[in-house]
Amino acid sequence: MDIIFYHPFFNADKWIAGLQQRLPQARVRVWSPGDDAPADYALVRQPPVAMLQNRRGLKGVFALGAGVDDILAQLRNHPDMLPAGVPLFRLEDTGMGRQMQEYAVYHVLGWFRRFNEYQQQKSEARWQHLRNHSRDAFSIGILGAGVLGRSVAESLKPWGFPLRCWSRTPKNLPGVTSFYGQEQLAEFLSGTQVLINLLPNTLQTVGILNRQLLSQLKPQAFLLNLARGPHLVEDDLLAAMAAGEIKAAALDVFVQEPLPQEHPFWAHPDIAITPHNAAVALPDDAMDYIASAIRQRESGEMPAGRVDLVRGY
Ligand code: NAP
Ligand code: GLV
Repeated sequence: MDIIFYHPFFNADKWIAGLQQRLPQARVRVWSPGDDAPADYALVRQPPVAMLQNRRGLKGVFALGAGVDDILAQLRNHPDMLPAGVPLFRLEDTGMGRQMQEYAVYHVLGWFRRFNEYQQQKSEARWQHLRNHSRDAFSIGILGAGVLGRSVAESLKPWGFPLRCWSRTPKNLPGVTSFYGQEQLAEFLSGTQVLINLLPNTLQTVGILNRQLLSQLKPQAFLLNLARGPHLVEDDLLAAMAAGEIKAAALDVFVQEPLPQEHPFWAHPDIAITPHNAAVALPDDAMDYIASAIRQRESGEMPAGRVDLVRGY
């Protein structure tokens, strides 16, 4: 069995050794331009088209991340990039759930206890009590109730905030009020104080965080974008913040990454920024999943994590 690997910044040596150890019968190699030899499986991130197109022998492609918008965008431009019938899989959790939980809990509690405002007061040597938010009114709305959205909801439960989620199909999650579909989006938004985005970036969700949506949240709302930059219309966020509709935001992802030096987000006092690392798959967890999925494929089973190419996630 032959496996090819390509990732723009993962440590390839560690991956080759780790996969080889888990799948001793396989020959694992780093793909490089010009390599058009057959391969049974491809492990990829932002794959060059030539890595997959016309690859003989391919039985499965594993995206080395949770989101597959990069691969699907290339697929729209090069419909023959993925040989017909070859399934595409993505990483589900593999350590990312807990990292998303850490990120969300940190910001939600910080905003709830107004620590960001106290930090600003400190810079002015100002000793002043701020009025506490009411826990019952500090409702958290999660866009996306998939692997990561559900994980984040779970981590917020112990703090007693009202929790709600919005997804394409209805959910039955204890302690979380489910809203679904376009027809329930307005109701979901109007009861949300802190909006956490964990949707996939698809043709349906791109640009969803726009002025019209942000204006439907509770007044002085908070935004956490943990999913993809193109979900957010960046100028609309600045306008919503200037209008007081959004009080603060924490952003991990941006339309252009790295975020350009001159971008107004850098200087904005109420926008926190991280460099697209809210959650990164843990190599050992990811390799365990991929090795087990390959074994399943080899015995004729369909592993979890298959991407629906039409739905886009
Ligand atoms: P997932 O399990 O596929 O969950 C996606 C959720 O979004 C599902 O609940 C789905 O609804 C919902 N959804 C999709 N399209 C929708 C639509 N048009 N309307 C309403 N709901 C819709 O994905 P995941 O593993 O939780 O990951 C979510 C995203 O997080 C990834 O796609 C990736 O872009 C992002 N991510 C970011 C980082 C980072 O470091 N910043 C790390 C990992 C992942 P249904 O359940 O009803 O289908
Ligand atoms: C990271 O952004 C991922 O989708 O895994």
